[in-house]
Amino acid sequence: MNTATIRSKFLDFFGRQHHVVKNSFSILPQDDPTLLFISAGMAPFKPYFLGLKTDIKRAATCQKCFRTTDIDNVGYTFRHHTFFEMLGNFSFGDYFKKEAIAWAWEFITKDLGLPKDRLHVSVHHSDDEAYQIWNRDMGVPADHLVKLGDKDNFWTIGVGPSGPCSEIYIDQGPALGCGDPKCAPGCDCARYLEFWNLVFTQYNRAEDGTLTPLEKKNIDTGMGLERLAAIMQGKTDNYDNDVFQGIVRHVEEITHRRYNDSTQIRTAMRVVGDHVRALSVALADGAMPGNEGRGYVLRKILRRAARFGYRYLGQEKPFLYQIVPTISRILDVYPEIQQNLDHVSRVIHGEEERFLVTLKTGSEILTDFIGRLRKDGKAELDGGRAFLLHDTYGFPLDLTREICREEKMTVDEKGFATELEKQREREIGRASCRERV
Ligand code: GLY
Repeated sequence: MNTATIRSKFLDFFGRQHHVVKNSFSILPQDDPTLLFISAGMAPFKPYFLGLKTDIKRAATCQKCFRTTDIDNVGYTFRHHTFFEMLGNFSFGDYFKKEAIAWAWEFITKDLGLPKDRLHVSVHHSDDEAYQIWNRDMGVPADHLVKLGDKDNFWTIGVGPSGPCSEIYIDQGPALGCGDPKCAPGCDCARYLEFWNLVFTQYNRAEDGTLTPLEKKNIDTGMGLERLAAIMQGKTDNYDNDVFQGIVRHVEEITHRRYNDSTQIRTAMRVVGDHVRALSVALADGAMPGNEGRGYVLRKILRRAARFGYRYLGQEKPFLYQIVPTISRILDVYPEIQQNLDHVSRVIHGEEERFLVTLKTGSEILTDFIGRLRKDGKAELDGGRAFLLHDTYGFPLDLTREICREEKMTVDEKGFATELEKQREREIGRASCRERV
């Protein structure tokens, strides 16, 4: 089943349960200074959870999301993404646990046809009600149900609506497991893959962590579409699903490299595919690369993609911008990408062009530093050299760190911070001298 079919099946299913099916909101938060990007399907609905808006009681979306955590892991793993699509159904003071659980179970076992014997569920250790609904009403046996603590089963977006949750997992088989006889959902190994989180939103969480009970109980669910597509397509790697493979085929054509030729090429194509997808969506929604906040995150991923292209895919000229039309075709459910195609491609091309000059010089200097350190039997790049790359050549610390990681070297980041501080003090000194004259 392809990604587009799963997306529409989900929305149709909840439409039939009388949810208002809405288009994705922008990936850029509106009137929410607590977020750089929309990072969960529930985020644009915060005023509904808090009872500030009441015109809708039930909604369902496939929301464009962006998570800034773990960017440096994207490409190296099966699951990390910056941009992803989140399927969600929401109740604002309307239905609660019983319906949310029953519909989730019906959707995955009937509409998607996932085998019950491979499904497992976790609930918050204090939530006997959810446990009973799964066990008694849905017939999930006790050996497929686990009770976990706050770390796994209490969901929060930071500031705002939050609550205990229940997660649904698929057993990907012992070959992906750790072999521990006690291995179960919640284990860090890859065997049990969580793919749907049902949050029983009962609290408003303040910045200091204080939980205030909400007047009404709500439902917020989040299911990663990339993950679900991989499951439905019998893959254990999200990047093997139809959407990513569509993007990868185009990257192969442009670069004349094959995805499966080496681990490094695979990593590079995942980075390129993920980051250009994220950039296409964010730029189409009006964001721009820059030096601070959201703009900096976008600049960082653009540079990271350009660097992987340069190093592992032989791309010394701008090439990321060429992938945008393919992304716009594959993500045609978001017509704003097509509508802003020229703008998005132009911004990416311009950033790539400027950065490639820095990248070429900085990479050569860093390669030279690494060679010399190796000769001296050292495995750490000192802060002074990392700072020189940053300050004189505009070569960002993230890239220095990532290149060193590939070369099995570390970076003395404390030393880098000291050099940065010294430079700040020099600048303050110069400024106060200027004020005196
Ligand atoms: N809001 C539920 C989730 O993101 O998992």
